[in-house]
Amino acid sequence: MPGKKKLLVPAGILSFIILYALSCGNEPKQAIRKPVDYIKPIPGPSDSVPLTTAQKGEVLIGYSDCHSCHKEDKRSVGPAFKDIAKRYPVNDAYIDYLSKKIIRGGSGGWGAAVMTPHPELSLENAKTMVRYILSMRK
Ligand code: HEC
Repeated sequence: MPGKKKLLVPAGILSFIILYALSCGNEPKQAIRKPVDYIKPIPGPSDSVPLTTAQKGEVLIGYSDCHSCHKEDKRSVGPAFKDIAKRYPVNDAYIDYLSKKIIRGGSGGWGAAVMTPHPELSLENAKTMVRYILSMRK
């Protein structure tokens, strides 16, 4: 019965195609979930940032090397400033944590890329920079 044998081959190919299609079907879901996991917003009340503080922070950042790794809107070597602002509520605890992290550098919060340390920055100036970054929270 040559007819039956011929049918077996297409059936095998067909099940491969179905399995392939099913495994591909999962990919878009992961792609949609990724940006949310990347930002990981922390809930909590947020203070407002005075405009003059934000402006001062913007100038300080302009005079430092931050823009070689950070962009306002897009992920670069480091996370986008707007993504950082989406993760952290504006309050003293996070402002303190983030300014100390800029001074000592590090990685692991957003991925494997490393932020170089900035020992030349005063804690006060680092805090002003952080307030400017977090003021991009909308
Ligand atoms: C050499 C590249 C580089 C430079 C220069 C740099 N950063 Fe970063 N920055 C990174 C990377 C990479 C991360 C993500 C670190 C991580 O995953 O924990 C980061 C993270 C941050 C964060 C978030 C930290 C956290 O734990 O969520 C802030 C705020 C920040 N940078 C501000 C600054 C400021 C302000 C400057 C300039 C004084 C600066 N960065 C300069 C690469 C850089």
